[in-house]
Amino acid sequence: MDIYFAKVLAWLETLKSKQPAVCDWIGIYYKESYLHKLNSTDLVLGPFIGEHTDHVRIPIDRGFCGMALREERTVNVADVTKDSTHIACSLKTRSELVVPIADKAGHFVAELDIDCNRLAAFTPELETFFKEAVKSFPLLEEFAPFPVESFETERLILRKVKQTDLNDIFEYCQNPNVARYVTWEPHQTIADTQKFIDYAQSSYAKGAPEPMVLVLKDDPKGKVIGSVGLIPASPKNRIFELAYALSEEHWGKGLVAEGSKAIINYAFNHFAIERLQCRCDVLNPQSSRVMEKLGMHYEGTLKASMYLKGKPRDMHMYSLVRSDFRPYAL
Ligand SMILES: CC(C)(COP(=O)(O)OP(=O)(O)OC[C@H]1O[C@@H](n2cnc3c(N)ncnc32)[C@H](O)[C@@H]1OP(=O)(O)O)[C@@H](O)C(=O)NCCC(=O)NCCS
Repeated sequence: MDIYFAKVLAWLETLKSKQPAVCDWIGIYYKESYLHKLNSTDLVLGPFIGEHTDHVRIPIDRGFCGMALREERTVNVADVTKDSTHIACSLKTRSELVVPIADKAGHFVAELDIDCNRLAAFTPELETFFKEAVKSFPLLEEFAPFPVESFETERLILRKVKQTDLNDIFEYCQNPNVARYVTWEPHQTIADTQKFIDYAQSSYAKGAPEPMVLVLKDDPKGKVIGSVGLIPASPKNRIFELAYALSEEHWGKGLVAEGSKAIINYAFNHFAIERLQCRCDVLNPQSSRVMEKLGMHYEGTLKASMYLKGKPRDMHMYSLVRSDFRPYAL
């Protein structure tokens, strides 16, 4: 849901940038039955831009928001103070436009809600503009799982994890040297590795390339030797975090930096991402070197910012922001 909401937020930002004079508050209310597949007639608040609102849930029989989806029509209110139907989100709001949003089958599933601090802000032209705009709204069902099955670099294939990778992954994840500076414990049993595979499947379903496993192109057995992934650390702020681990026998060949480049190229091309970050324990200079090889900037050391393996850890923070990003040659 996080990545989907980031996409919706980006859509709202584009809309607001086209009509800044009327969008003092702009957001999406969804039918809860659509968003959470619950047997409910309530509307629930999705992404929004503007002041915080307490109205995160609205019964369909209340307010202009309820009216628009109940009556399946656009509601354009010139002066909200003259109508008792209005549920006040902000005392500054004077006019409001609510445009229902239909799915591809024509069923109304959500609505665009815009509040303006001026009276009668939504002219017929603006109403038409926003009715047209909702046709490009990113619907939940269009939001597919992470679509790329594999990437290729000079020496590597990066691909989604498969159930048959269980033993390969267990082999390197049980090594305490590999697990020393990561958030997870060395795998004790195959069940620990199964949890990793289950996590990967749920992560792809949410649209994240996390983790993509690494296989050497020239290995006929196609053994999995590590993984690189991009975690949606804060989609609202467009921040993704890089994570990686490699089988010890392959350390020192520059493989993780090579594999990371393919995923980072993809992310800056396809995701609403502004900042790629990566942290490593100050005692893990090998990982710092990977980030340096990726051209990431060292931002500082966050003291005791992670509690790992029973101890507070000082972490180096590195980043690569969109304005500094130049696509890597693979
Ligand atoms: C950190 C890690 C991902 C680096 O991946 P890698 O592909 O081996 O990285 P590189 O080959 O670019 O080597 C990075 C540095 O590690 C050091 N290094 C190389 N071979 C090494 C070895 N066998 N043992 C220890 N350090 C070694 C070198 O300083 C090297 O820098 P250099 O190329 O400038 O000499 C890998 O060591 C690993 O998986 N470690 C365990 C998991 C982990 O710590 N993940 C990161 C959590 S933040």
